[in-house]
Amino acid sequence: MRTPFFAGNWKMFKTVAEATAFANAFVEDVRGVDGVDLVLAPPFTAIHALAGATQGSRVAVASQDVYWEKEGAFTGEVSAGMLVEAGARYAIVGHSERRRLFGDSDAWVNRKARAAMSAGLVPIVCIGETLEEREAGQTFDVLDRQITAGLDGFAGSEVAGLVLAYEPVWAIGTGRNATPEQAGEAHAHIRQRLRQWFGAEAAEGCRVLYGGSVKADNIAALRGQPDVDGALVGGASLDPKSFAAIVRNGR
Ligand code: 13P
Repeated sequence: MRTPFFAGNWKMFKTVAEATAFANAFVEDVRGVDGVDLVLAPPFTAIHALAGATQGSRVAVASQDVYWEKEGAFTGEVSAGMLVEAGARYAIVGHSERRRLFGDSDAWVNRKARAAMSAGLVPIVCIGETLEEREAGQTFDVLDRQITAGLDGFAGSEVAGLVLAYEPVWAIGTGRNATPEQAGEAHAHIRQRLRQWFGAEAAEGCRVLYGGSVKADNIAALRGQPDVDGALVGGASLDPKSFAAIVRNGR
């Protein structure tokens, strides 16, 4: 059985003070909620404070990105080792906003995921098709490309330990979530490819999250799909009560 997994991606929201206040409320809200992995991904600036504020709780901290070099003349970038030292345990890589706005390619996603894992961070690798690609019937081809390129060189045992997030780009921040059937179909495809390309251990161990307009009132139906292991939540993770309700309704 895969442990359900809920991660909040705060994107470019929340100062150190706001992140700490969130943590204090959220840790209380999810006290007694067992058998789930809970992760918050703040901006880089709040990682250290959030790790401190959630210490000793079941809530772990993720970065929203990572650079693959250990150190050097790479202005603006942050290495995996630096994130570990700051208190992160997970690293989101390949979010569609990174791909679309900042040029992250599949090859970069691969290097970032590898660097994260080598440093002891669990990569949360995001994949997903645009509306144009879905309407052209290319959804599975896009997912296949993102999985093969993004996880190139990973062993089955490594894939078993990482997290994939299926986030259809057309469902992000639009209020238009994929229907449970659309999500279920994509997740089943991803699971089948993991089995085919990385083996049974990978297929059975890897958590595959759904992301895109997840709310407290649609998570239960999405989680009703057998291959949806949890959610990567944007907007609805910014309020502790709202995110805690998603965790309770979706676990
Ligand atoms: P929304 O939940 O705001 O649609 O964002 C989803 C997302 O991009 C999470 O990474």
